[in-house]
Parts: sequence; C-alpha cells; structure tokens
Amino acid sequence: EKGTYPHYMLKEIDEQPLVTRKIIAKYRNENGGLTVDEDIVNAVNAADRIYIIAAGTSYHAGLIGKQFIENWVKIPVEVHIASEFSYNMPLLSANPLFIFISQSGETADSRSVLVQIKELGHKALTVTNVPGSTLSREADYTMLLHAGPEIAVASTKAYTAQLAVLSILAAVAAEGKGRSLEFDLTKELGIVANAMEVLCDQKEEMEEIAKEYFATTRNAFFIGRSVDYYVGLEGALKLKEISYIQAEGFAGGELKHGTIALIENGTPIIALSTQEHVNLSIRGNVKEVVARGANPCIISMKGLEEEDDRFVLPLVHEQLAPLVSVVPLQLISYYAALHRGCDVDKPRNLAKSVTVE
Ligand code: F6R
Repeated sequence: EKGTYPHYMLKEIDEQPLVTRKIIAKYRNENGGLTVDEDIVNAVNAADRIYIIAAGTSYHAGLIGKQFIENWVKIPVEVHIASEFSYNMPLLSANPLFIFISQSGETADSRSVLVQIKELGHKALTVTNVPGSTLSREADYTMLLHAGPEIAVASTKAYTAQLAVLSILAAVAAEGKGRSLEFDLTKELGIVANAMEVLCDQKEEMEEIAKEYFATTRNAFFIGRSVDYYVGLEGALKLKEISYIQAEGFAGGELKHGTIALIENGTPIIALSTQEHVNLSIRGNVKEVVARGANPCIISMKGLEEEDDRFVLPLVHEQLAPLVSVVPLQLISYYAALHRGCDVDKPRNLAKSVTVE
C-alpha cells in the first residue's frame, strides 16, 4: 500500500535505504561477513566468462555489475540486451555462466535466452525480486533482491537492490578466489544506505532542479564517463519513460562524434562526476557543450565538487557511487513528470512486466 505517499514511485524511492540495509542483513553470516550460497560462488568461480542478460533498467544494473565482477573477481563479463542476444547469439566461451537480472523474473526476452542456453547445457543464475518467478524456477540458482513488491512501472528500488546484490556476489566470489576487497563492503554499503537517506531528505532541492531544467524542455542529455555513463543511461530512461521528455545518456567523450549537433541554447545537460580518474575529462566535456549553449546541471561527489556544481552527493566509496548517484536522478524524473502532469506510476504505453518478445 502506498499509505500517505501520492505515488508508489516516490514511496519506492524512499524505501531504498531500508532495502539496502535489508540486503546487508539477508546476506550476512554469523561472523558479520557477507555470504552467498556456496554453489553460486563455485559456479561463478568455475566460469571462464560471465554473460549478463537483461532488459531496460536491469540491463543498466548489469553494466555496473560487470564492473564489480571484473574489478574484484577478475573474470571477464559481457552484458547483453536480452532481445538482441536471443536473435543474434555471440560466440560463447568454453565454460560460460549466465546471470539473468530481472526485477519481475517474468521478462519474455530474458526467458527466451534462458531457454536457449539451457538447451546448450549451460548454467544460469537469476537475480530477481520475485521468488518463484519463471526465471527463478527455470535457472539453476537464484539470488533474491529482498526489495519488497515494486508497483510503480518505473523501476527504482529494484535497480539499487540489483547493484547491492551484485556487489555482494562479486565480493564473496572474489574472496573465494583469494582476492579479498581492499575495503569492508558491509560497512561501505551501510554508508551508502545512510547517504541514500540524506538524499531522500532533499526532495525540495530535487523538485527545484526538475522545475528549473525540465519544466518545458523537449529533450535532455545525461553524460558521464565510466560508471557515471551507465548511471546516466538509467537517468535518461527514468526521465523519458515517465515525463516523455526525449532523454539520452551518452559517454562524455562520445557527444562530439555527432550528437553534439543537437545541442541548442538551453538544452539541459545533466553531467555526473563521481569518479576521480575521469573527473577532469567529464568537466572538459561539459565545457564543450556549454560553449554551444547547453544548460549544465553538474552532479558531483563530495571531494570532487567545484563551485558551479548544481548538486553535491554525500561521499561514499567510489566503486559504490552508482547506488547513490541514481537517487537524485530518480527524484528529478519524478518531479519533472509530476510538474508536466504525467501519470507517474502508470506511464503511457508501458506495462510493469513485459511478457511478450
Ligand atoms: C524501467 C523498467 C524496465 C524494466 C525492464 C526489465 O523503469 O522498469 O526497463 O527494467 O522491462 O524488467 P525486469 O527487470 O522485470 O526483467
């Protein structure tokens, strides 16, 4: 039930700190460390390559999951859009493991890939919010998101839950390979939950940004580099699906290879900067678009902020920044849609779970 909330989406955004804490509790062992079913850890560590299959927001979570697994476990990961994989299967490695990411566990595009790879005799892990869902039943292993039912069509808490669960999977698999992380993931996810709470208390600020940048615009661009680019893809999807503003996420360095032609006076550009090694280059990209008249909204991580930044995120571990930087983008999309008179929880043309290919 949405209780006193005007929309499920807002309630679900607000639940993210709680869900993050619940995930920590669910994947914690009696010694305070993190734990994942041994069979799953063995399956990850037996693989020579991991194929992540998903759609939409879950695909965007997969892009970040790839970073966790490659950086920490050191197994190569490919992330595929389910509908593309299904009709154009790439060459597979000798010992692949498939990870299906799906909030609903019912997405037909993903299921079609699952059926194909099971026929080939490969193992599959499903990361889902719904126990007993089709993708969970038909895979060899399941990891649950523990996010509680997600009712709003636009996925919010499932995305951050997917990131948290994938980070735990990667950390525990890395440990299994004798590669312990340089930081305490349990502690850092706790800091993430606190930061999400701080952000959820800044709704007025987000509403201001939404009004300032998105009240009348027809289009918008989200730019970032590295994981900030992937979060930008998710920010753009959130904005377009509920506010109907044409929004696109781009790698900071890629705009100048064509898309910069679309920048006009006042075009909103939301730029994320949470990663030290690309901070200067993304700021360079912002200058390029501002020189063409763009209206920049820079969202940076504490420690990297500069004077003109529109919003500064509370500091969290750099590798976990996507769990936090997405929250203002969700809120800004929510308020943009609200002020444009859109049906936030039930955007036109969309269904919560897409059970046709
Ligand atoms: C966007 C959104 C969709 C879903 C996609 C996959 O907010 O909700 O893009 O992420 O349809 O759905 P699941 O995760 O249920 O497989």
